[in-house]
Amino acid sequence: TIDIQSTAEQEIPSQNQIVVGVSQLGSESMWRTANSASIQQALCKENGYFLLFNNARQKQENQIKAIRSYISQRVDYIVFSPIVEDGWETVLQEAKEADIPVIVMDRNVSCDPSLYTAWVGSDFTEEGRNAARWLEEDLKGKKFDQKETVHIVVLRGTSNASATLGRTKGFAEIAKTHPNWEILDSDDADFTTAKGREVMEKYLQKYKDIDVVVSQNDDMTFGAIEAIRAAGKTTGTGGDITLISFDGTRSALEKVKSGVINVDIECNPLQGTYIQEIINRLEDGESVDKINYVEEKVYTQKNVLSVLGDRVY
Ligand code: AHR
Repeated sequence: TIDIQSTAEQEIPSQNQIVVGVSQLGSESMWRTANSASIQQALCKENGYFLLFNNARQKQENQIKAIRSYISQRVDYIVFSPIVEDGWETVLQEAKEADIPVIVMDRNVSCDPSLYTAWVGSDFTEEGRNAARWLEEDLKGKKFDQKETVHIVVLRGTSNASATLGRTKGFAEIAKTHPNWEILDSDDADFTTAKGREVMEKYLQKYKDIDVVVSQNDDMTFGAIEAIRAAGKTTGTGGDITLISFDGTRSALEKVKSGVINVDIECNPLQGTYIQEIINRLEDGESVDKINYVEEKVYTQKNVLSVLGDRVY
């Protein structure tokens, strides 16, 4: 990882560099660490950038403070990953009035799209649909197929984050077409291992017959595995509980390989080069696409080896 001072108050040099202020929402997950490293590597000195990087530690107020600081320092561009979708209008209006282009990274904002120049991130709703589509296929030919009830619990991420909202919506869209899929519970577990374990322990005490766990990121999945093992049950291929995870980090893909996690729906954190490309185009006076989806796949035991060798995060 690159050692960048986590502050919005670094002194900006006078050289001919493109100054970018980044407000990262936190460091809650392996995915987030990879996302921060990706932006730090792309917007580095060697590529002509001076990067101001601030970790908001899961607080929207810290993100707003960092963005305001970037505005007052008159940076050339602002990049931020919004922790939640709502509440950005005022600060983004301030950036617009200061004529500073804003690039939204990773998650979405609910405000007027004219308040930002471009967005780079994942189609979270499609990720949720992909999870449900995989389950549809997996259940075919099993005892559940249209006959017995499939008992599902969901470990949700951060409340009101678009990753949580999209994955929940996409999965529910397809789930409701299956009368025998029953979502027993769906609770926020903040995208962290500790909360994943805690919420999973609660589910295991409350429900005796959980068939499927949908865990909206790999960190929570690791917590869920600990809780399930402690309850004397197994997960994955041939196990008691089918485990669906999101992100596709290296350590989780190792568990897909060994059959502990059934499927991992990829969420691509490597967004730095996309953002670098957008800024470079803007610098050259070219137009940019407003919405930029990153490439993502679905990994099971069948295809996981194709990615494991190259996985850097
Ligand atoms: O917004 C992307 C999500 O946020 C990732 O799935 C998760 O791991 C992260 O914390």
